[in-house]
Amino acid sequence: MPIDLDAVRADTPGTDHVLHFNSAGASLPPQPVLDAQMTHLEREAMIGGYEAEADAAERLRHTYDAIAHMLGGDADEVAIVENATRAWDMAFYAMPFEEGDRILTSRAAYASNHIACLQVAKRTGATVDVVPSTTRGEIDVDALRSAMDDDVALIALTHVPTNGGLVNPAAEVGTIARDAEVPFLLDACQSAGQMPLSVDELGCTMLSATGRKYLRGPRGTGFLYVQKDGIERLTPPLLDLHSATWTGPDTYEIRPDARRFETYEGHVAGKVGLGVAVDYALRLGLDSIRKRVQSLAATLRDRLATVFGVTVQDQGRRRCGIVTFSADQKDARSVQAALREDDINVSVSTPNSTRLDAEARALPDLVRASVHYYNTEAEINRFVSALRTVLADEW
Ligand SMILES: Cc1ncc(COP(=O)(O)O)c(C=O)c1O
Repeated sequence: MPIDLDAVRADTPGTDHVLHFNSAGASLPPQPVLDAQMTHLEREAMIGGYEAEADAAERLRHTYDAIAHMLGGDADEVAIVENATRAWDMAFYAMPFEEGDRILTSRAAYASNHIACLQVAKRTGATVDVVPSTTRGEIDVDALRSAMDDDVALIALTHVPTNGGLVNPAAEVGTIARDAEVPFLLDACQSAGQMPLSVDELGCTMLSATGRKYLRGPRGTGFLYVQKDGIERLTPPLLDLHSATWTGPDTYEIRPDARRFETYEGHVAGKVGLGVAVDYALRLGLDSIRKRVQSLAATLRDRLATVFGVTVQDQGRRRCGIVTFSADQKDARSVQAALREDDINVSVSTPNSTRLDAEARALPDLVRASVHYYNTEAEINRFVSALRTVLADEW
């Protein structure tokens, strides 16, 4: 079903104030997400934080159900944490790597994930092998197939990189991982909320994501999915009295479900809001969201290609709502600052956020304009016209 643009904009108070092309940074939340958080925060102030949490037990339980429903998993396969990085780390650092193990990753790897790989390799003697990309920038699935051997302990893939619209062929990677019975950790931070994600179709055994980006949830929220069979093989790198029980003076037992990756204290209002955000996305339909986001982004790329001095930098056969570009006339930070003066929000992708890709393509800082379904064609026109003015100032 097509998205009712008037309704979603009426539900998004921020659209009255800014032209927001920064959903890959943090999207504008819809009113129900804001209301759910404010209501909970007020309740905390009125009756106490623990008491408000007890009152919200059903809403909190619902958040796990909603995430599980969105991914096609079970609620006990979901952990809710502070952000995507912590979600990814909790799974990654729980893996029992040994000397000689191989961690396969790809060129679009996100900095935080790759840094963790390098650290673990240094500690354990495992190696990090970057699978080559195709000329379109995606992980080369044939090269991945040839790279598989008995030493591969993990395939770690970034579904959509932080620095562009490329969508990696995650399901094809998942098939290879499944055939080889190798764990597959998918970083879905930039894809969650802008396209359907079925863990079954993707073939991933673990998936990490954040709340604030395309899901339009609260900041300070993220989640980890771990396939049931694998949970008890993963020992969380950090434990507390929520993830484990102190069973005797010298003993403890780790929870059997994915909540072993959580901590006791958390952002309760955020968790409630995250559930509402997932419901909101599911109600609109992730397939409808994907279609609209892809179409808006394609229009924006076409329009940018007509602006003198601008180079669109996105790769991939399949592309999503993230649009990146550079301009000959002005560096990305100056473009961002000039647009901000016009109440237009974009962000900047720096080479060190995706070093492998940035070096391979000699990328400078990029302007990242990420669209969501609540953006409009009129906003694209205003954006391109503002950009022309900003760049023309330089000549
Ligand atoms: C591909 C990718 N993975 C992970 C992250 C980290 O997400 P978070 O900031 O929620 O930890 C980002 C953030 O931009 C990202 O782009």
